Amino acid sequence: MCGIVGYIGFRQAPEICLAGLGRLEYRGYDSAGLAVITDNGQLDVRKVVGKIAALRELLQSQPLAGTIGIGHTRWATHGKPSVENSHPHLSCDGRIAVVHNGIIENYQELRSRLEAEGHTFTSQTDTEVMAHLIEKYYDGDLRAAVCRAVRDLQGAFAFGVICADSPGQMVAVRRFSPLVVGLGDGENYIASDMGAIRKETDRVYVIADDEVALLTPDKVELTDLDLNPVDREVFVIPWPADAAEKGGHKHFMHKEIHEQPDAIHACLAGRLSDPDKPIVLEDLNMSEREIKSLRKVVFTACGTAYHAGLVGRFLTEKLARIPAEADLAAELRARDPVVLDNTLCIVISQSGETADTLVALRDMKEKGAKVISVLNVVDSSIARESDGVVYIQAGPEIGVASTKAYTLQILTLELIALHFAEVRGVASPQQLHELKSALLKMPELAQTLLDREEDVKAIAAKYYQKPNALYLGRGINLPSALEGALKMKEISYIHAEGYSAGEMKHGPIALIEPSCFTVAIAVHGEVYDKMIGNIMEIKARSGPLIAVADDGDEQIPVTGVDPQADPDDVAGQPNDMLWVPPVPELVSPVTVAIPLQLLAYHAADMRGEHIDQPRNLAKTVTVE
Ligand code: F6R
Repeated sequence: MCGIVGYIGFRQAPEICLAGLGRLEYRGYDSAGLAVITDNGQLDVRKVVGKIAALRELLQSQPLAGTIGIGHTRWATHGKPSVENSHPHLSCDGRIAVVHNGIIENYQELRSRLEAEGHTFTSQTDTEVMAHLIEKYYDGDLRAAVCRAVRDLQGAFAFGVICADSPGQMVAVRRFSPLVVGLGDGENYIASDMGAIRKETDRVYVIADDEVALLTPDKVELTDLDLNPVDREVFVIPWPADAAEKGGHKHFMHKEIHEQPDAIHACLAGRLSDPDKPIVLEDLNMSEREIKSLRKVVFTACGTAYHAGLVGRFLTEKLARIPAEADLAAELRARDPVVLDNTLCIVISQSGETADTLVALRDMKEKGAKVISVLNVVDSSIARESDGVVYIQAGPEIGVASTKAYTLQILTLELIALHFAEVRGVASPQQLHELKSALLKMPELAQTLLDREEDVKAIAAKYYQKPNALYLGRGINLPSALEGALKMKEISYIHAEGYSAGEMKHGPIALIEPSCFTVAIAVHGEVYDKMIGNIMEIKARSGPLIAVADDGDEQIPVTGVDPQADPDDVAGQPNDMLWVPPVPELVSPVTVAIPLQLLAYHAADMRGEHIDQPRNLAKTVTVE
């Protein structure tokens, strides 16, 4: 789950690596380090426990100079965060330096073997075995030594390697963990993702499993592990250089929430243009015959993406009338699902690199399911293993808490369900027209919701000091409640539970008291009356309540309000309202998401938390 970045060229490597690491910090941030080859041919290393800012500070007092360097931001897996366990890791003679993202599964066995051969280890990490393996195999050809070393490894990895005895070279290799090589003029780069080096170049090679890149300042050679040349087209990064910067917002999360109107527009472009024309989803890679013969759709994903999958399940059954399931990726394999003929698995992932999701995908493929993925990052591991990919077109998402990707995942699943319904002929033209018209209005509605940010902020100011929250929803908005609660807990650290409102009386109602606020999703639709009942029950127990309701709803603000209540009792106060423009219930998870993201954001900001890098979390979870 760590991030790696490397530079070889004519400029100073530390500055470029530091800037790249700053952009990769979402991948991990418990420690960081840099190694350069100095002008007099030595390896020089700096490491710190803490964030990139701490490394930057250390470099001020102990500068590094050199035009070849590799850097790392760590999220600990093997060995606690410490200077010894931070990367880069060195060979015994200190001439080879390695940075690594991933896990070497057989490192214990390799370490014992290497120790028996006389190698001395200085860390508890799995990574260090790679530095010693390369040292063992090095006979003047760094690339050949890396290839031999990789053959000994089991697990997932992306490595950047430099060697003081091969000062004009850098070698990078990967298996299952992401790696790109950036192409410049007289300078080249490696990185865990394109965002880290987009400022420097828009031309990259996306490296595949068991491929090796040999970089010099002037060229990049790609080969397999047997050193056979690999032909790869240059990928041109489609987003502008400043897309990965904060653009004037206090946090990336805030910027990304505000990017949603444009992002929704981009996601719909070319797919839905007219409420009376069919949805176009060529990248789905499914024939009409295949869609008509589908017997089951299984959604799988982790975290926020799983919540989007729950919305997808609902839409697939309700609109396309296909039996559907949704499973957490980490659980899917455990239950050994029965996969019938004509089963489609829809995998959802922002990063396309989530290890549990990748494992679930492989399992479903092995069992015979066709796999379509709904992704954001282009050319990821999940993309490469899927039979079809529909990109959500969100642009880079840097904030650890997913916002625009969630909204666009739902939107994309709406498009897929409508497409299935159309092809299978199971939805009425009126229903299709109504839903498509509502989706076409989404960019504008999202902007309306953002324009109401000050109202959301005022509500956040009232509640941000409370320790507990309950988020309730039903039907298609149960996932909205789960996602709203996840957003709140992960960035504000307020303990928030998402629940089906129908389950209230089966346990969670015991939590209701003045210090626990409830967020009830009560937009119009099939479950509206039942939500009114839940709100009454909460107010009757003096529970403070925020409702998400349609503009113009006069009932919800006063639902459950007891005019006889003591003035200090919340039962006598009108409910706090997060208003949303009315839309058909089946598309309401898109509009409901936005005020709940803003509520979590402002509550966390008022509490002074590290919003873009919440504690213990990393943006891309590349280990199971
Ligand atoms: C929460 C969040 C995570 C991710 C999850 C899956 O805000 O971002 O729950 O949704 O780790 O990540 P991806 O979508 O990259 O597979």
